[in-house]
Amino acid sequence: MKKINLVYGTVNGEAEFVTREVAEQLSADGVEHRLVEQDELAGWVPPQDELLVVICSSTGYGDLPDEIYPWFLELQESAYLPDLEYGLIGLGDSSYEIFNGAIVQFEELFAGFGASAIKPTLKLDASINYAPEKDAKEWMSSILS
Ligand SMILES: Cc1cc2nc3c(=O)[nH]c(=O)nc-3n(C[C@H](O)[C@H](O)[C@H](O)COP(=O)(O)O)c2cc1C
Repeated sequence: MKKINLVYGTVNGEAEFVTREVAEQLSADGVEHRLVEQDELAGWVPPQDELLVVICSSTGYGDLPDEIYPWFLELQESAYLPDLEYGLIGLGDSSYEIFNGAIVQFEELFAGFGASAIKPTLKLDASINYAPEKDAKEWMSSILS
């Protein structure tokens, strides 16, 4: 199993909580990983020989949270990662018009590089998924098995 890099984007802390729960599970399972903190994102390019997992909520009108947006733009403007393997978990709410718009933007970004999704994006819906950390951990387990 490749090392897993976890990146989160959050407004009110839910995606961060989910990410920290996933990281705890990886620690318990003995899987090598790094939780890239928000203040470490500037200039950080995901290594292509490691797996990247982005866990990101949506805000505004299908927008990215402010703190992860500069990193998204950096990748969009200057990265080319055709050999990257990645997985995406979106936290959204289907009562909003652009459901999980932020994680869809990541899907489009990575697809544009020709990078490979390890599994279809998990799009969580706050109207249905009352324990997103549980769903995220199940999704992560299915990657590991
Ligand atoms: C002001 C606001 C705007 C939101 N806009 C969207 C949106 O456009 N699309 C969506 O799917 N969810 C939207 N949501 C729902 C959040 O993404 C969802 O509640 C998520 O779990 C919040 O996670 P966070 O605390 O990590 O930011 C919005 C929530 C708020 C409070």
